[in-house]
Amino acid sequence: MTEQHSTQSLPSGFTILALETSCDETAAAVVRDGRVVLSNIVASQMDAHRRYGGIVPEVASRQHILSMIPVLEEALAVLPGGWNDIHAIAATYGPGLSGALLTGLNTAKALAWQRGLPFVGVNHLEAHIYANWLIANDERRAANNTPNAPQFPLVALVVSGGHTLLALLRDHGAYQLLGQTRDDAAGEAFDKVARILGLGYPGGPAIQQAAQGMQGGGVLPRAWLRDSYDFSFSGLKTAVLHKVQERQSREAKVAPARSKEGKPQKTKEPTPAASNQAPVSNSHFVAQMAYAFQESVVDVLTTKAVDAARQFGATEILLAGGVAANTRLRSELARRADVPVRCPPISLCTDNAAMVAAAAYYRFDAGVQSEWELDVVPGLKLGA
Ligand code: KG4
Ligand code: ZN
Repeated sequence: MTEQHSTQSLPSGFTILALETSCDETAAAVVRDGRVVLSNIVASQMDAHRRYGGIVPEVASRQHILSMIPVLEEALAVLPGGWNDIHAIAATYGPGLSGALLTGLNTAKALAWQRGLPFVGVNHLEAHIYANWLIANDERRAANNTPNAPQFPLVALVVSGGHTLLALLRDHGAYQLLGQTRDDAAGEAFDKVARILGLGYPGGPAIQQAAQGMQGGGVLPRAWLRDSYDFSFSGLKTAVLHKVQERQSREAKVAPARSKEGKPQKTKEPTPAASNQAPVSNSHFVAQMAYAFQESVVDVLTTKAVDAARQFGATEILLAGGVAANTRLRSELARRADVPVRCPPISLCTDNAAMVAAAAYYRFDAGVQSEWELDVVPGLKLGA
């Protein structure tokens, strides 16, 4: 990436305004000293995308343009001195949807240029990890002491709608990608399986809810990809699809059922698994599938994160990304890991700009600034 380096370290009270528009949330945040969240505004586009059952890039780009200024103004409103209290600006420049990324990056560059403030571009995956450095407002009020910052070396598990990776962090800016998904991201698998089961979008919370209270039942396969920290979830998704199709054809064979009055009822067409309607009529079956799917994903993610932490002597495991909101994943990791597991509050797990500000702080602290020519990089990797 195009950047400049200098060596001075940051004064106390250093306050960053950050923007995040890589996917379907328009977000702006103000963070002090890289950790203290002063404001964190997120405008979700969920409703605009829900009826399509997933994110439509063109819709996302348009929504970011509409939401950016109101979100930015709301984020700045907490500062008594307004713009005078901002010392630097940051924005996500990848990975993500190019049209979506452009809005945040160009807004941030224009503001930094106009105000004569330092600017840095941030990797969205790195930002998810840095959510673990943040101290949310309610946490600050609840604790008398500021929670300690994570100590290196660390293992980070990033699980979101677009990404699934395991990374070793030896220091700020020194990352080693240990493994990543070879096909679907964990969140993407949750979303697709929810769709197959007719549970709606976004799939993660819907599957978690459907699986609640279930135990045992059929077991779905786990793609271990032995001797690798890589992941694969598409086979699991296909396994669910096959079980649903088997069930549908069994239901179709039983029909035409007789009504209480003995009249033949109309046979229902088997619902295409890709539609948003309930493809199977039995809610117990749907709950069993949701449970077995969640167990399979959580087992693989947990096993690999725990093994990596052991192998590299990590002091902690950092959990990040939208799927980190999954309560089963959180509890299994905490139960099986030898080291503490740190996880941001849910509002900081899903896409937000506070995490971008946290990552930016440690880049500015290392003397890094981006050049004005910095462009969006939709396929940006961690550590690039
Ligand atoms: O990090 P994020 O907000 O967006 C991306 O950068 O991708 O993650 C969104 C993903 C979605 O796939 C959503 O289904 C998943 O996080 N998710 C969950 C849960 N809450 C959100 N997955 C599993 N369990 C949850 N409770
Ligand atoms: Zn994300």
